[in-house]
Amino acid sequence: MTDETVGAPKGANAMWGGRFAAGPDAIMEAINASIGFDQRLAAQDVAGSRAHAAMLAAQGIITEEDRVAIDGGLLTALSEIESGTFEFSTALEDIHMNVENRLRELIGPAAGRLHTARSRNDQVAVDFRMWVRDQADAAISGLTALMKALVGQAEAGADAVMPGFTHLQTAQPVTWGHHMMAYVEMFARDRSRFEDARRRMNECPLGAAALAGTSFPIDRHATAAALGFDAPMANSLDAVSDRDFALEFLAAAAICGTHLSRLSEELVIWSSAQFRFVRLSDRFSTGSSIMPQKRNPDAAELCRAKVGRITGAMIGLLTVMKGLPLAYSKDMQEDKEQVFDAADALMLALAAMEGMVRDMEPLRENLRAAAASGFSTATDLADWLVRELNLPFRDAHHVTGALVKMAEDRGIDLPDLSLADMQTVHADITEAVFGVLTVEASASSRLSYGGTAPENVRAQAARWAEALK
Ligand code: ARG
Repeated sequence: MTDETVGAPKGANAMWGGRFAAGPDAIMEAINASIGFDQRLAAQDVAGSRAHAAMLAAQGIITEEDRVAIDGGLLTALSEIESGTFEFSTALEDIHMNVENRLRELIGPAAGRLHTARSRNDQVAVDFRMWVRDQADAAISGLTALMKALVGQAEAGADAVMPGFTHLQTAQPVTWGHHMMAYVEMFARDRSRFEDARRRMNECPLGAAALAGTSFPIDRHATAAALGFDAPMANSLDAVSDRDFALEFLAAAAICGTHLSRLSEELVIWSSAQFRFVRLSDRFSTGSSIMPQKRNPDAAELCRAKVGRITGAMIGLLTVMKGLPLAYSKDMQEDKEQVFDAADALMLALAAMEGMVRDMEPLRENLRAAAASGFSTATDLADWLVRELNLPFRDAHHVTGALVKMAEDRGIDLPDLSLADMQTVHADITEAVFGVLTVEASASSRLSYGGTAPENVRAQAARWAEALK
């Protein structure tokens, strides 16, 4: 039997319609088709097919002549897709069959040999894995750029004192640089989560065929290497069944999105008229069409919101996957759109955050004034009583509380109390106490490892600047 004699009945699917007397209902076609979204996998699909064809030829399963024709045809199809001249067909369901059909138009019956020892199940698994792998790489470089911008802010503002908060109540003075470096640490962990996920996902499902492997003498190590994988996946059922690589990507993205959202929230608060801690650049602010005075932090708000899509995608795909028996089920076609959407949202949010952070200007005077209000050096006073007067910390806490109350009743700050006032609460207090009551003294004294002192911040920023080179 030659290739030419093979064909589906009229109206039936050209790829699998051999046993069907009639074509699908329009609704069937609509629910079944994924070409509307999986055309995003075109480049990966062609790369996977080229590697597969090369391996088939090297193993003597197809001729070199057919391989050359297949390879050329695939490249033509891809360039048509990239230039927008390719005609996608819903009847051909997905990217895999659209490309193969075009290949047949371009090179004739040899196209039908490409699918030897392969199924769409391992085909889609390898395509999607390569796509997600690219996105993990993009997230890693987006995070690196963002971390560099944060380190730049930390270096410039290593000694700028601002209030540190707990419960969003003024707690103790910290430095702007320290606050920036906190996010560097968080984004560094996000980056390592993408790196870990990438390492684990870098095994190749191609050659698992439909689910059980194949009787053809294929070389899965060769295709794995050709496509940049560390190894072929060891179990064919697992290879076509799992989407944990996409779930891990989404989980890393959701955590990263959560970090982005928290930083966004701070930028929204800090740029408000009530706080005035930071000025966002014109490039990353918008105006109001009715209130001329407004500068809205829309980019920060949208970064804050994007995590909704990302976490939603993670929950969505977990829900699709739970309860699926091995091996492939068509449910798994529903894996892609949410991952595409989440990846797009993450990359955009990372880029926008990098731009905002790079451009923003901390308003040092306002930060300092805010740091000095709210009795933010009360802990320094208590520590002084422990260190200099040898009070137990609990007693020092009570003495300090009484002094805070005195200042509060008079509407002044701790450093504004006179020594005589202080001595009414504890007779042994000396003039030297005033040395620890300024916000600068407070911040600079916190030299414990990981503490907020400018010296520490500069050391950490230098360490990261070097690591991020
Ligand atoms: N479009 C399908 C998907 O995205 C490709 C795999 C189809 N496999 C099958 N046995 N029908 O999952």
